[in-house]
Amino acid sequence: MTEEFKHYTVMKNEAVDGLNPRDGLVYLDGTLGGGGHSELLAQKILPDGKIISFDIDDDAINFAKKRLAPYKNVTIVKRGYQDFEEVLSELEIEKITGGMLLDLGASYYQLTSKARGFSFLSDAKLDMRFDKSADFSAYDLINSYSEEELADVFYYYGEERYSRRLSRNIAQARKLKNIETTFELCEIIKKSLPYKNSRTNPATRIFQAIRIEVNGELKNVENTLKKVVPFLEKGARIVVITFHSLEDRIVKKIFKELSTELSLPEGGVREGVLKLVNKKPILPTDEEIRENPPSRSAKLRIAQKV
Ligand SMILES: C[S@@+](CC[C@H](N)C(=O)[O-])C[C@H]1O[C@@H](n2cnc3c(N)ncnc32)[C@H](O)[C@@H]1O
Repeated sequence: MTEEFKHYTVMKNEAVDGLNPRDGLVYLDGTLGGGGHSELLAQKILPDGKIISFDIDDDAINFAKKRLAPYKNVTIVKRGYQDFEEVLSELEIEKITGGMLLDLGASYYQLTSKARGFSFLSDAKLDMRFDKSADFSAYDLINSYSEEELADVFYYYGEERYSRRLSRNIAQARKLKNIETTFELCEIIKKSLPYKNSRTNPATRIFQAIRIEVNGELKNVENTLKKVVPFLEKGARIVVITFHSLEDRIVKKIFKELSTELSLPEGGVREGVLKLVNKKPILPTDEEIRENPPSRSAKLRIAQKV
C-alpha cells in the first residue's frame, strides 16, 4: 500500500448500538475496512465478547490489524463475508450470539486510491477488485463480456437507459485494441451518454455497475442475508448499511420476507423469523453529512432474530 489508508466510518454509533452490543457474545463484522465499527464494538463488548472481522482487501486488513492490535477479542480473517459458514466452522463457533454487521460497498480509500482503478476521476488501469488476488477485474469485464452482457450490467446495476448504445461503442472500440484504462473508458462513456442536464456525471453509474459485477456485490449480500438467519441465536441482530437503492432494495425485501408469516406449500404457516427493529431506515444526521458528504446516501436497517 503506497497511499495513506483513510476511511470515514459511516453511522458508527448508530450501527454499533444497532447490534445491541453485550459482553460475552459473538459478533461478525462482515466488512472490516478501516476497522472503525469493529473498534467501537470491541470496546463495548469487553472483556469476553468476540468479533470475527472479514475483509478481502489486503490494504484494509493491514491497516485494521494495526488499529485493532490492542483488542485481543477481535479475530481478523481474509475471507469474503459470504463464506461466514466455513469461517465459523473453522473457528468452532456454532452460533452468532450477538449479531452481524455489513457496511456495504467500497471504502473511501478504495474509491480514491489511484492504484485501484475505482474512480473515473483519475487515470489508472481498469481494475476495481476488492481482492487484488481475484482473477477477474474490470479490465476482463470490459474486454471479454459480449455486447449484450455489458449492456445488461450497465442496465441492471447502473440503471442506465442508454446501456445498449454504450455497450455497442465499447464493443466497437475494443476491436482495434483492448480498453486498458479508466480514462479510455471515460472517453467512450462521454461519447455514448448524454452529459448535458445530468446532475451527476453518468460515469458514476457506469463505474458503480462495473464494480458491482466485478465483485459480485449484490449476489453476496443477498445470499448472505438469506443463509445467515439459522446461524443467529434468538435476539441476535443483523445491521446493514447500504449506499444505493439496488442494495437497499435487496435488504428491505429480504428483511420483509423473513419477518412476515409465510404460507407453506405443504400446508401450515412459518412464523416470521426476523423482527424489524426499525420500520424505516435510519439515515445519517445532517452533521455527519456535513462532515462526510458521501455518507448522504447511506441507509441503515436493523433486524432481530425472533
Ligand atoms: C465501506 S467499507 C467498510 C468500512 C468499515 N465499516 C469501517 O468503519 O472502517 C467496506 C469494506 O468491505 C470490504 N468488502 C467488500 N466486499 C466484501 C466481501 N464480500 N467480504 C468481505 N469484505 C468485503 C471492502 O474491501 C471494504 O474494505
